[in-house]
Amino acid sequence: MKSQISNSTMHLKATASAKNKSITVYAPGTVANIVCGFDVLGLALNDPYDIMTVKLIEEPVVVIHNVDNYGLPTDPQKNVAGVALLEMIDRLDSKIGFDVTIEKKIMPGSGIGSSAASSAGAVVAANHLLDNIFSNADLVQMAMLGEKLASGVKHADNIAPCIYGGVTLIRSIHPLDVISVPSPPLYVTLVHPQIEVRTEDARQILRKQILLKDAIKQWGNIAGLVTGLMKSDYDLISRSLEDVLIEPIRSILIPAFAEVKSGSLEAGALGGGISGSGPSIFMLSRDETTAREVEKTMQETYTNTGIAFHTYVTTVNMEGVKLMN
Ligand code: HSE
Repeated sequence: MKSQISNSTMHLKATASAKNKSITVYAPGTVANIVCGFDVLGLALNDPYDIMTVKLIEEPVVVIHNVDNYGLPTDPQKNVAGVALLEMIDRLDSKIGFDVTIEKKIMPGSGIGSSAASSAGAVVAANHLLDNIFSNADLVQMAMLGEKLASGVKHADNIAPCIYGGVTLIRSIHPLDVISVPSPPLYVTLVHPQIEVRTEDARQILRKQILLKDAIKQWGNIAGLVTGLMKSDYDLISRSLEDVLIEPIRSILIPAFAEVKSGSLEAGALGGGISGSGPSIFMLSRDETTAREVEKTMQETYTNTGIAFHTYVTTVNMEGVKLMN
């Protein structure tokens, strides 16, 4: 910690001449949990993503501009990117601050890591302007304050993949232990019904206690999924995409969940389930043709519900937040 402060103090001299230095980033959506790994697994997506521009300013404040129609707060204390950047300013112990312009393309409450994209994108961009004095683990800690603001709880299964890219395992958040998990090529199909499920609400309905027999099934699946990803064993991945703890409860919040799931499996998906806390549903496939077939069945099912929806066919984003200039 001590060396961090002296680094940043050193850096301050450099930033005095770097007034108006700015960077634009693409901050990717993410799928938290990956079915069985509630709060411990997540993956980054190539689509959708938010676009954010962060500028250094010579005052220790955060100024936020939203250039979308979501009406998110501009008070930095009430904004997920704002609280993450305020924490960075605190850790810097200096006179610089950040001006942030956020163009959200990931709808808040979609289950595709909208809040994580904002807070992770903001700290990655800001850190770049500070010549990367903070480690990825530091950035995850700061960005998790955004998750706490959004859902009442710190969790890193959207933040970590957003920052690290690929598939990440969050073995622990106290102390933070993030592990990148290698994976074979995977296509991701998502359907996003245009209804909002607040993560806070979706967490409140969960049971606080579970049966040992269910826990055994769940940790068998988590271990199976991680092993399957590392060994590029698609059959093992497929068998392990099962959630006996969370999905049975949360799926009641998602219209046509069972139909989407069974239709996607029939279309050849490896498996899938609720994306994060929903309402989006995601499915993994081995190839693009299957992923498009899965999209068709999702579209057919949702057209029948009469609920507006949006679908994506994308791949796993291996680099996380991407710097544009
Ligand atoms: N693990 C979190 C949850 C992710 O399922 O509540 C929220 O996106």
